[in-house]
Amino acid sequence: MAMVTADEIARAAALLRAGGLVAFPTETVYGLGADAANEDAMRRLFAAKGRPTDHPVIVHLADAAQLSEWARSVPEAARVLAAAFWPGPLTLIVPRAAAVLDIVTGGQDTVGVRVPSHPVAHALLVAFGGGIAAPSANRFGHISPTRAAHVRTEFDEATVPLVLDGEPPEIGVESTIVDVSGPRPTLLRPGGITPAQLAAVLGEPVADPTASSPRAPGTLARHYAPRTPLEIVSAKELPRRVAVLLRQSNVGAVLLRTVSIGKPAYQGTAQTLATATLPLDVAGYAHGLYQYLRALDDEARAIHAPRILVEDVPNGDEWLAVRDRLRRAAQSS
Ligand code: TXA
Ligand code: MG
Repeated sequence: MAMVTADEIARAAALLRAGGLVAFPTETVYGLGADAANEDAMRRLFAAKGRPTDHPVIVHLADAAQLSEWARSVPEAARVLAAAFWPGPLTLIVPRAAAVLDIVTGGQDTVGVRVPSHPVAHALLVAFGGGIAAPSANRFGHISPTRAAHVRTEFDEATVPLVLDGEPPEIGVESTIVDVSGPRPTLLRPGGITPAQLAAVLGEPVADPTASSPRAPGTLARHYAPRTPLEIVSAKELPRRVAVLLRQSNVGAVLLRTVSIGKPAYQGTAQTLATATLPLDVAGYAHGLYQYLRALDDEARAIHAPRILVEDVPNGDEWLAVRDRLRRAAQSS
């Protein structure tokens, strides 16, 4: 296990206070942090990511008690959800307090906040004291990092001087985002916490976004995308799809399959070369997904495979976040 020392936490907090950028692990994915109250630091953050400035970022807090510093009012649903799921992989969209910078909110009247549970994220937030704005620590549109080494492939040391190398994110996909600023709690992004878990606590189902819901541009069609085109294929279609690709080039594809106990449904062929399997349980699958997508993308480029084929995952509420990320990764434009 990678260890983060108290000295590194202190150095990271000092860097943030000086307006610098620090990457750190959370229980979902690695975040790229900046002082959410420092406009220059925020500009540096957007520039580093290559992210359009109208895309709002999530403010991370050490403790739910700090929510009132960022929200001008705390809706009842926010209180209930925070009590149930914080610290943890849930982001709440609440009405913004007057002092919150426009660059944090993308000029909207709301702000996204979350209290992460990862011990390194928590230690950093406690040492820093204020809110840390942290998008996923990848360049805009790329796959979110779940390892310190992934972050290093995205940003050089001049841009991000410190990457805290902690225990890998347990969840593996980004937080669930619920907008509680309107009349009904609305799911803006599926994530580590399922709609059923939210509904159980709220006593009503979360609504799907409508045209008037706040924009969550992380929900852009193409996102979380490898460089190699990715296709989702049913287990049944996989052998045929591989055969078709092999007629077109001598390397068919790299495969990401699911495996229940025992064997994967489809073994591949010699020419599919790189294959990886993820377990057919959602926690294990989500935990490994981004790491495997990065590894298969590297492999596909090394062997000039034209495609990454991903065996489709089950339907059902608990697979929603994984299906969502796979479908976005598969969008070609
Ligand atoms: O798990 C996570 O949420 C990770 C870790 C680092 O905490 N962060 C993350 O940040 O995924 P990012 O920037 O990659 O995605 C944040 C999403 C974007 O889709 C953004 O549009 C949405 O949150 N968002 C942030 N503030 C918002 C607001 N006020 N209204 C609507 N959407 C908002
Ligand atoms: Mg992101």
